[in-house]
Amino acid sequence: DQKYEYIVTSTPRPGVGQITLNRPKALNALCSPLMTELNAALRAFDRDESKSIGAVVLTGSDRAFAAGADIKEMKDLEFSSAYGRDFIKAWSELTEITLPIIAAVNGYALGGGCELAMMADIMYCGPKAVFGQPEIKLGVIPGAGGSQRLTRAIGKSKAMEIILTGKNFTAEEAEKWGLASKVFESPEACVNGALDTAEVIASYGRLAVKAGKEVVNQAYETGLAEGVKYERRIFHGLFASKDQKIGMTAFANKQKPEWSHE
Ligand code: CAA
Repeated sequence: DQKYEYIVTSTPRPGVGQITLNRPKALNALCSPLMTELNAALRAFDRDESKSIGAVVLTGSDRAFAAGADIKEMKDLEFSSAYGRDFIKAWSELTEITLPIIAAVNGYALGGGCELAMMADIMYCGPKAVFGQPEIKLGVIPGAGGSQRLTRAIGKSKAMEIILTGKNFTAEEAEKWGLASKVFESPEACVNGALDTAEVIASYGRLAVKAGKEVVNQAYETGLAEGVKYERRIFHGLFASKDQKIGMTAFANKQKPEWSHE
């Protein structure tokens, strides 16, 4: 599928969509046209009427997941247009995608690249992944959710250190701090690991997966009692789905479920 200039899309496994950022000369710097393409590709997978896609892997190259927002594009930006057109707001369209998104991070994930990876639902990385929020060195701060998502993921003291010093951190640190769930031994293993997980997720009923993603994300929005009640209501709702009957009946009959995605 070559209708894009800055990304490549494919469906490498049953039920799995892959989006590879492909702007090698700029280390996948996230210029506006790239983000427009990324959002379009994600929406196309998400809205596929045939429900053929059940999870998406988002990756870059071995050298760079993404080296940040495009500094050359931003260099002459003025407040009135940054504020006026709400610069970078469109990036958060990624968080409106209902399919699970797994980021497979190799090489640089800096600034907006780190922020993009943190918007994914699951983060895996290769051994040479380099994370950081270096915006302070450019006279600015993170602008695509970095201060909020990093702080929630790794806590205030570490997030302050990273954002205020602009120092990078490693794959091992990302994993140890709970930002990434796994470090793989090579970039290929990282992408394959992400595809394996995506394939597992895509083998389940789409409605239950969508509900699972929704309730985990709700944990970031509400207090515990409200969140637990929210989860229970969504859980109740799944008893109106065909897949709940299919899944539980198959278990009781010692059969493999054939999901209807309804
Ligand atoms: N924007 C635009 N172009 C970029 C870029 C970026 N974020 N990152 C790299 N590039 C370009 C370089 O300008 C260079 O282009 P030319 O060949 O035309 O000179 C090309 O990619 C290769 O980069 P380098 O020659 O610098 O490669 P390197 O291996 O020496 O260094 C690097 C790699 C350490 C990642 C370095 O490129 C770098 O520091 N990049 C900027 C990282 C950064 O500051 N990111 C934050 C951006 S601000 C942001 O993201 C705001 C936000 O919160 C949304």
